[in-house]
Amino acid sequence: MKSRQKRPSHFKRRDFIKASVITGVGLAVAPAYAFGNSSKNEKVRIGFIGVGGRGRSHLGNILNRDDVFVPAICDIDPDAIQRSKKKFENAGFKKPEIYTGNELAYLKMLERDDLDGVIISTPWLWHTKMAVDTMKAGKYAGVEVSAANTIEECWDMVNTYEETGVPTMILENVCYRRDVMAVLNMVRQGVFGELLHARCGYRHDLRGVKFDPGVTFGEGASGEARWRTQHSLHRNADLYPTHGVGPVATMMDINRGNRFVSLTSHATKSRGLHNYIVAHPDGGRDHPNAKLKWDLGDIVTTLISTARDETILVTHDTNLPRPYSLNFEIQGEKGITDFDYHTRRIYIEGTSKPHSWDDMNEGWLEKYDHPLWKKYGEYAAGSGHGGMDFFVDHAFVESVKRKVSPPLDVYDAAAWSAITPLSERSLAEGNASQYFPDFTRGKWIKNKPLFAINGNQY
Ligand SMILES: NC(=O)c1ccc[n+]([C@@H]2O[C@H](COP(=O)([O-])OP(=O)(O)OC[C@H]3O[C@@H](n4cnc5c(N)ncnc54)[C@H](O)[C@@H]3O)[C@@H](O)[C@H]2O)c1
Repeated sequence: MKSRQKRPSHFKRRDFIKASVITGVGLAVAPAYAFGNSSKNEKVRIGFIGVGGRGRSHLGNILNRDDVFVPAICDIDPDAIQRSKKKFENAGFKKPEIYTGNELAYLKMLERDDLDGVIISTPWLWHTKMAVDTMKAGKYAGVEVSAANTIEECWDMVNTYEETGVPTMILENVCYRRDVMAVLNMVRQGVFGELLHARCGYRHDLRGVKFDPGVTFGEGASGEARWRTQHSLHRNADLYPTHGVGPVATMMDINRGNRFVSLTSHATKSRGLHNYIVAHPDGGRDHPNAKLKWDLGDIVTTLISTARDETILVTHDTNLPRPYSLNFEIQGEKGITDFDYHTRRIYIEGTSKPHSWDDMNEGWLEKYDHPLWKKYGEYAAGSGHGGMDFFVDHAFVESVKRKVSPPLDVYDAAAWSAITPLSERSLAEGNASQYFPDFTRGKWIKNKPLFAINGNQY
């Protein structure tokens, strides 16, 4: 469990005392995030399907809040269940009811009438089915990324939402990264003028994740190596587009005044995973895994066109030695920013010295810090991935609590996730252009931006 976080200065001690007396859930430790909901009956009730690495990280954030109660969790892995129970114990909460034993045990959990929402953090192939079943059970679904694997799954999510009226939120945390939100703020304030182009991607050396331990994957492996690696073996596609594309989509108003129209993809040959197996002390040239043929090209590059005639260059790069990068660049009529953890630079004509970059750390990020970060930054300190994980869980809980559409909705989930099957088809057809379905069925023309609109409280 992450260390307890400092309570924000406007936190009222009186509220906490009230909460500890009334909750009746054995609260022994102060929740770090106090939102003023004290009695168990007033709390939002959230269940969990999948409490592996990511699910437990969400669980930690949720258990830190005083406005949420977690009555039940589900996982098929006894170790994941055990570690989650520890989190409840450490937080001083009553143990949740456990659903386990087989891959469909979550359906039993969804029959409960005391759940308002469910956070789904399972392997990719389960996401859509679980989100659809959750919506059908009348509970808000918060689904990890990517949300769908095929175009049919994208439509399944959208159709189920439209039939049931129960929302799904895609839990794309990078949309809430502080620098990303500052750039969103700049875009909305017209700093770059009209946008023309963006670059983004997922460039993360995952070789040690895809093989763990040693060069093992699939049965007998640990963590994501149990399931994620199979996708690299059998799919040549941008397998993980949403961390890059999600933030750009919010800046370009995708599904809200704009939409993705088409894409083309290109892939390099595949070398990284084979080389890793051969060079690894547990592997070698004669290891059976060294004979495998990996379908995933090491670098998959996709170019998307939008209805407003912008282009977005998206890279998927997870098999080669390299430092982490989401590779953001946002370019408009008046200037450009090239930013990530390793570089934060900006050039705005008339403000920057001609032909030279300004350091965004010198005033820019502070000036355009997003109001949501100003409001909740203290709460976020210490939560995962530099604080952005607080925000994504907060947005989910607040949407459930207020019974409103989440700021990243089922149409976002469908449009962003569709990049995987469309890039796969483009590559299979010799880089042929592929058209995005309009998952909003025309509503994108009138829909207004919703994500982190100033004054929006979550
Ligand atoms: N947003 C982020 O920053 C971020 C970070 C890490 C992972 N993720 C995403 O979160 C998801 C989970 O990744 P992870 O790293 O936690 O993987 P993981 O393998 O550590 O955890 C997945 C868990 O799901 C459980 N599971 C599998 N099938 C199940 C079923 N039918 N019913 C119940 N439980 C089941 C597994 O036992 C495991 O505990 C993936 O989609 C991944 O891409 C997102």
